[in-house]
Amino acid sequence: MSIRVEHLTHIYNKGLAYETKAVDDVGFTVEDGEFIGIIGHTGSGKSTLIQHLNGILKPESGRIFVGDVEITAKNIKMNQIRKRVGLVFQYPEYQLFEATVRSDVAFGPGNLGLPEDEIEDRVREALRLVGLDFSTYADRSPFELSGGQKRRVAIAGVIAMRPEVLILDEPTAGLDPKAHGDILRMVRSVRDRTSGIVILVSHNMSDVAEMADRVFVMDRGRLVRAAAPAEVFAEADFLRSIGLDVPPATRMANTLMGEGFAPDRTILTLGEMADFLAGRLGGRA
Ligand SMILES: Nc1ncnc2c1ncn2[C@@H]1O[C@H](COP(=O)(O)OP(=O)(O)OP(=O)(O)O)[C@@H](O)[C@H]1O
Ligand SMILES: [Mg+2]
Repeated sequence: MSIRVEHLTHIYNKGLAYETKAVDDVGFTVEDGEFIGIIGHTGSGKSTLIQHLNGILKPESGRIFVGDVEITAKNIKMNQIRKRVGLVFQYPEYQLFEATVRSDVAFGPGNLGLPEDEIEDRVREALRLVGLDFSTYADRSPFELSGGQKRRVAIAGVIAMRPEVLILDEPTAGLDPKAHGDILRMVRSVRDRTSGIVILVSHNMSDVAEMADRVFVMDRGRLVRAAAPAEVFAEADFLRSIGLDVPPATRMANTLMGEGFAPDRTILTLGEMADFLAGRLGGRA
């Protein structure tokens, strides 16, 4: 299954003095199994863009195809889209509302009209995938959990729908390093298990560099780059000009380059930097 977006434009408050063109003539295709990272300065249109991919927002103009279904078509049923495209909002923990973790995660699958035992299986699987022990958490109130745990519950609710496309909007924002690492590992394991499309919006350049097959760069509503991480992060000056930066390892490599240590490819991660330095310094003692 693939996603195809054609000439997508979204305008907030159209016709008013303060109207905003939040997405401006954006087009791309995402192939089955691809992991896409979306980066862009605050207000560049990332959240607006991805909310079109599961039909929450309707565009001013343009079309979106998920597989061979045009989800921007007039008579489309929202349930058909939600089953295939799961979206985890920015700060999803504010959207928990059920009395127990179990019923919160079961809400989406329940709406699909699945039998009870199937729902139970999905709730167990989703909680396991987000790293919450079923017997410890299933019957607790989500409101008694920590911020990071709440977020896992919210993500589990989307995973339990078993979507073919999983979209996460800043899933690690505001989390401590451990919770941050846990959520990223969880995203990886979901991806490895489902082999579907994952789209991750992030302000963390290292995460995107490490995980994405391709990086989409947004600037003032426009999609200005869509390429492999090594290609996108090779353009440090361009990224800086639109309020972004390269990952720390790449920045360090660029500084070393100024000192005459030129790596032969774009270094994206600290692991790659370590390998490069070990090679230059003559390997292990
Ligand atoms: N509900 C709304 N009503 C009016 N304008 C909005 C609304 N949501 C977003 N905007 C405007 O649309 C533009 C794009 O916002 P959006 O939230 O998509 O950006 P973003 O890239 O997700 O930013 P961030 O990194 O801060 O999450 C901004 O100018 C924003 O002020
Ligand atoms: Mg956003």
